[in-house]
Amino acid sequence: MRLPDNVSSSYIWMNGKVIPWTEANIHIITHGLHYASCVFEGERVYNGQIFKSEQHTQRLHHSANLIDMQMPYSVADIEAAKHDLLEKNGLTNAYIRVFAWRGGEVMGISAKGATTSVAITMWEWPSYFPPELRETGISLETSKWRKPSPETAPSHSKAAALYAIGTMAKDKAGANGYHDALMLDYRGYVAEASGANIFMVKDGELYTPTPDCFLNGITRQTIIELAKENNVDVLEKHIMPDELMQADEVFVTGTAAEVTAVGKIDEKAFKVGPVTRKLRDAYTELVNGNDRIYSTGM
Ligand SMILES: Cc1ncc(COP(=O)(O)O)c(C=O)c1O
Repeated sequence: MRLPDNVSSSYIWMNGKVIPWTEANIHIITHGLHYASCVFEGERVYNGQIFKSEQHTQRLHHSANLIDMQMPYSVADIEAAKHDLLEKNGLTNAYIRVFAWRGGEVMGISAKGATTSVAITMWEWPSYFPPELRETGISLETSKWRKPSPETAPSHSKAAALYAIGTMAKDKAGANGYHDALMLDYRGYVAEASGANIFMVKDGELYTPTPDCFLNGITRQTIIELAKENNVDVLEKHIMPDELMQADEVFVTGTAAEVTAVGKIDEKAFKVGPVTRKLRDAYTELVNGNDRIYSTGM
């Protein structure tokens, strides 16, 4: 994704200070760079409101905990900083990236003695996938890379280290003419796209993989709630690729991807169907100001 041209005139919050974009620099000797000791959040702002802001900040803390990284700022500190920075940057519809990484006081696998830094950045970012694909859906190519077992990796941490396979999977799919990768897990079950969860519809019912080795996305959880509110039955279960290929509809969900229909997986075509449309509309309505779910702190 290319950053917007005007991003260099924005402000960044870094370790308690608001500074110009051009001054937010770190040294090349940084543990986070050499050993991927970094966790992050991607959030969206709709009409001036950060969607599920506190839940994202709590997940950032949880992600840090899962990789034994101490967070120097509380959830309340980060919440205040995000909201202040949003005002300072004068943005009402935006993407927010909050991240925490270990510094350069030490160099080596051990992070003992390294401090943690935190930064917040934001920019305008309307759509993750090209908007003209709304009616046809995106295409996914099954990747050879698999999501690792939770005994092998901190699967539920939104940790930078886990994205190495996602980047390879997505770029390979892109090189083959697909929009994104479909990733299976270490057992061969359907897991998710490179940066979004996946749902399938069969005979009017909604199915989504059990998130036992990948991120249980905040959008995923929201869609499950919205499906229930809209009288669509939802089942979380292990799904084999063959079963996914028999689906009537497929879509992916994520803060960046929002609700995006899938029109093709490998050689198999799918229609953008009524359940996808209904949940996509319900999500759009919710994030744009209907506050039914904001208040539950989901
Ligand atoms: C690997 C991965 N899975 C799923 C998601 C969806 O998570 P969320 O809905 O919380 O953005 C994301 C996006 O953050 C992701 O990077």
